[in-house]
Amino acid sequence: MAAYLVEWGSLLLRWLHVVTAIAWIGASFFFMHLDASLRKTPTIAKGGVAWEVHGGGFYEMRKYLVAPDEMPAELTWHKWQSYWTWISGFSLLVWIYYGQSSLYLINPEVMPLQPWQAVLCGVGGLALGWLFYDNACKILVGKQDMLLAGLVFVFVVAMSWVWSHLFSGRGALIHTGALMATMMTGNVFLNIIPNQRKVVADLIAGRAPNPEFGKQAKQRSTHNNYFTLPVLFMMISNHYPTTYANAATIPLTVTLVIVAGALVRHFYNVRHSLHGNNWASPWWAWAVATLAMFAAFYVGMAASPSGRERLGLPPAAETVDPGKKADAAPAAVRRGAFELPPQKVIDVISTRCSMCHAAEPVFEGLQIPPKNIRFDTPEEIGREAAAIRVQAVMSHAMPPNNITEMTPGERAVLAAWLLPGG
Ligand code: HEC
Repeated sequence: MAAYLVEWGSLLLRWLHVVTAIAWIGASFFFMHLDASLRKTPTIAKGGVAWEVHGGGFYEMRKYLVAPDEMPAELTWHKWQSYWTWISGFSLLVWIYYGQSSLYLINPEVMPLQPWQAVLCGVGGLALGWLFYDNACKILVGKQDMLLAGLVFVFVVAMSWVWSHLFSGRGALIHTGALMATMMTGNVFLNIIPNQRKVVADLIAGRAPNPEFGKQAKQRSTHNNYFTLPVLFMMISNHYPTTYANAATIPLTVTLVIVAGALVRHFYNVRHSLHGNNWASPWWAWAVATLAMFAAFYVGMAASPSGRERLGLPPAAETVDPGKKADAAPAAVRRGAFELPPQKVIDVISTRCSMCHAAEPVFEGLQIPPKNIRFDTPEEIGREAAAIRVQAVMSHAMPPNNITEMTPGERAVLAAWLLPGG
């Protein structure tokens, strides 16, 4: 029962997270586009007007910077999409990475952390990251936009480097994404919305609002817009082990993905401000972004032994300090969170699963183990116990289409180990 609840809890949280993120990012794209397409109009001193067509009607969108002369009777705020994206995302982080830290977050060969230490490194990093970012923005607002962008970029990459020395590869990548996402929601919750509240209070009191608030909010929402694509990549990367199989390459992958994602946003932001003069769009941004993604692909391939072989590269030097590795052994005991499978289970897995899930799969057409899941040793099987339970006991997703003809009796052997009592 508990295992099913954990699985469904994760599914429901992810559903919520995806839905709220779509709503939030959709709004972010929409307003950036709107801002870029505004044209000056004599009736508005600062701001502009744009026409849009959608859903069977025409919209005349007007922007008043920093605010209209009078407070409108009704005002729609855009904030809960952002808050719920963060709340659901952080809950997912807790559910999966902190709740099941020995499976997903802690790799004793990188750093033999206790679960509470790992949580501290994760949450502490997110909190410190926000403080650094927020203060950097406050100091540099309106003055040094490019310097600030560069600083934030280097900082995020540095944090990914730190986390890749503390966590499993996917743990490091998801925390890097969570850091950027925390900056984004922090911007909305702690800067943009409070500033807008001050503007509203000024309007109600009949005071002229301070234009500084508008400037700050624009700075933050521009950052958010440039963050969206890289963050989404990091959020889905944990389903693709070649992006995190080797911790040493994570900072480089993060660098390349931020460059590519931000450039694609840049392309659209500029293009939308050209009022239809599409040929003047910064096409070079696509070229550089494509190169960056090719580089990321190459880095991912060069990070795995079989990939290196195919690229004709010499085998990589041992990335884990051998002293530390000896310290961390035996992995099974130190992990503590799983038991080694009984021989009967090992026999089932090696006859029904290992032809695909091995360092060197023998199944035709497979060159690397799917999802980097390997069952070459009892330790590896034990480490993946929870995933095996989901894929082959709670569901029959594996073997795919039961291609290796696993019998109900064999599943019962796995169930006796993984779901005692059903
Ligand atoms: C014919 C080859 C093949 C066999 C045999 C096979 N798998 Fe898989 N397995 C795959 C592929 C392909 C994927 C990736 C599926 C995807 O991308 O959604 C996968 C994915 C997985 C995953 C990761 C799922 C995820 O999304 O995180 C687990 C766990 C797994 N298999 C366990 C098993 C177990 C246990 C067995 C034996 C009962 C088994 N597999 C047999 C090919 C195989």
